[in-house]
Amino acid sequence: MNKHLLVLVQLQHDLTPSLLSSHHRYKYFLGNSRLLSLPKINNSNNINISINNNINSNNNYNISIINNYFYRKNCYCSTKKSFGNNENTNNNSNNNDNGITTTTTTSSISAAADNSSLFTKFINNNNNNSNNFNAKQLLDSSRKFLKSSTNNDIKESAILDSRILIEHVLQLKPNARIPPTLNLTDSQYQQFSELISRRFKDEPIAYIVGYRYFWKHQFRCDRSTLIPRPDSETLIDQIVMLREYENFSPTNILDLGTGTGCLLLSLLNEFPNATGVGVDQSLDALEIAKYNSISIDKQNSSDNNSSNNIINNRVEFIQSNWLSSLSNNKKYQLIISNPPYISHSDYINLNPTVKLFEPKTALVADNNGLKDYEIIAKSIVDKDILDRDNGLVVFEIGMNQENDIIKIMESNGFELKCQGKDLGRIIRCLVFKYKIK
Ligand SMILES: C[S@@+](CC[C@H](N)C(=O)[O-])C[C@H]1O[C@@H](n2cnc3c(N)ncnc32)[C@H](O)[C@@H]1O
Repeated sequence: MNKHLLVLVQLQHDLTPSLLSSHHRYKYFLGNSRLLSLPKINNSNNINISINNNINSNNNYNISIINNYFYRKNCYCSTKKSFGNNENTNNNSNNNDNGITTTTTTSSISAAADNSSLFTKFINNNNNNSNNFNAKQLLDSSRKFLKSSTNNDIKESAILDSRILIEHVLQLKPNARIPPTLNLTDSQYQQFSELISRRFKDEPIAYIVGYRYFWKHQFRCDRSTLIPRPDSETLIDQIVMLREYENFSPTNILDLGTGTGCLLLSLLNEFPNATGVGVDQSLDALEIAKYNSISIDKQNSSDNNSSNNIINNRVEFIQSNWLSSLSNNKKYQLIISNPPYISHSDYINLNPTVKLFEPKTALVADNNGLKDYEIIAKSIVDKDILDRDNGLVVFEIGMNQENDIIKIMESNGFELKCQGKDLGRIIRCLVFKYKIK
């Protein structure tokens, strides 16, 4: 395959788990199929790929693109946009395929019982003659249950989410075959009916199972952290392209508002000689980010990715209100940030899966969503922590915020170097450098 031809396909829901990052979808797809010809994009937003695959006997898949395609530097990409959800303390632990324990939480035993009865009531009302403990039949009932939600996001992902949750309860690998005779034990059934009912009540699937894939790794997340989004992979993609086309190779990376650490840790994985600092105001988020730095090293070693320098030794996490607790004398070649950028008025209209579950402090900013860009831009200059010769500032931005943010940066002495579109063709990433070195 041509070195620069990268095809990321969003497969139909029944073929790939939504928890996967676009990178993993691609890897999953290639890993599960033998590509017989390079994909051709036709005019009707479909991609025709001939593959030899044992999913069924038909070797020619016509894979519908759920959302848009865009063409950029020989890259075809697609995505389904998802702004992707919980409560606390009664732990249900599961070991996933990387050997990492993921923990799902509920507010109390009584809440769990309450949740679980929602699904049980549904199947008792609709499935009188079926075996409630049979995995296949449960999958079918849970799909119908989720499809009866009034939340379109829940309806749309009903098939996939039911599958993810049954796999989670049964500790199966993604898309593993479920034997028709497989029955859940009583406690597995209780767990499943509780989890599926939480989903019905708008909780994001990533909080229910306790992780989400981003770029090349699985990241733990809980309600203290924003769920990593495929859109944010645009930043990594852009920086990796700068490495490829301009030999950009930062040795010190600063991530402002690190959350799960998904951006910083993915970059440290891409740049094995770099060290990084992740900043967040939330101590709980920093705990998750630390956990993820260890987890990624474990994931790398279980993938036999021994070429990577241990990430946990190269990263430091600091609690700080943006740059206020950072020292002035360290210079970074790369400062990345995905700060809160949703305006108060837009926040009101967010889907309940986001609004009721994800931390508001990770989402909303004053001044029409621009306040944190203003603070960060000014502090970078005041602290003089960006390498003036080669340093880059890379921001994730909200839809249509590019002009305002370019103005903010220009008024602080920066100029736009390049920008990146997300998989839905929206400008999502702005890269700045100092105008005068
Ligand atoms: C949009 S989330 C981004 C999380 C992660 N970097 C990502 O891309 O998924 C913004 C993050 O900024 C953090 N944050 C918000 N205000 C902050 C502040 N004043 N100082 C430091 N971190 C802040 C939030 O806690 C949250 O983790």
